[in-house]
Amino acid sequence: MDFKKFVTVVENFPKDGIRFKDITTLMENGEAYKKAIDEMVNYAKERNVDVIVGPEARGFVVGCPISYAMGVGFVPVRKAGKLPREVIGVDYGLEYGKDSLNIHKDSIKPGQKVLITDDLLATGGTIEATIKMVEKLGGEVVGIAFLIELSYLSGREKLVDYDVFSLMTY
Ligand code: PRP
Repeated sequence: MDFKKFVTVVENFPKDGIRFKDITTLMENGEAYKKAIDEMVNYAKERNVDVIVGPEARGFVVGCPISYAMGVGFVPVRKAGKLPREVIGVDYGLEYGKDSLNIHKDSIKPGQKVLITDDLLATGGTIEATIKMVEKLGGEVVGIAFLIELSYLSGREKLVDYDVFSLMTY
C-alpha cells in the first residue's frame, strides 16, 4: 500500500518553514490505519517484545493498537506533570521547542524487552529521551518503530546503536 497517499503535508505548520506531516488523514481511513499498524506489528513480532513504550500523544495512536494486537502491555511516556505516581524524567529538545518527559518509575521491570514506538522521527530528541528513561529502569530496547521518518533531520544518527524501522521516509 502507498501509505504516503494518506498522509497530508501541511505547509508552515506549526511554524513558518515546517512541512507538517498530518497522520490524521491516514487514521481516518480504516483500511490504511489498520494496514499501517499491521506492518508495525509484523516488525514487532520478529522481535521478542515484552512491552511497548510510546510518547504522548501520537505515540499512543501507534503504540496502543500494536500493544493490543500483540497482547503485551503499553507504557505511556508523558510530558511533565501528567503521570500521577512516582516518575523519572529527562529533558529533551524538539524539532520546534523544548520540554521534559516522564515515565512511571515502576512501569518497566529490569530485563524486560521493550519496543519503543512513535508516529514520527524528526530530530530524534523525543526518542532519545525515551530510550534514556527505559534503560535507566533496566529495560532493553529491542526495536524502535515509526510510521514516518524525516530523514533530512537526521534523527537516525542518534539511534545508530538500535534497530530502527520506519514505514515511510521523507
Ligand atoms: C512530535 C511527534 C514525535 C516528536 C518527533 O510530538 O509525535 O513524538 O514530535 O520529534 P523529534 O524527533 O524532533 O523529537 P509532539 O512533541 O509534537 O507531541 P504530540 O504527539 O503530543 O503532538
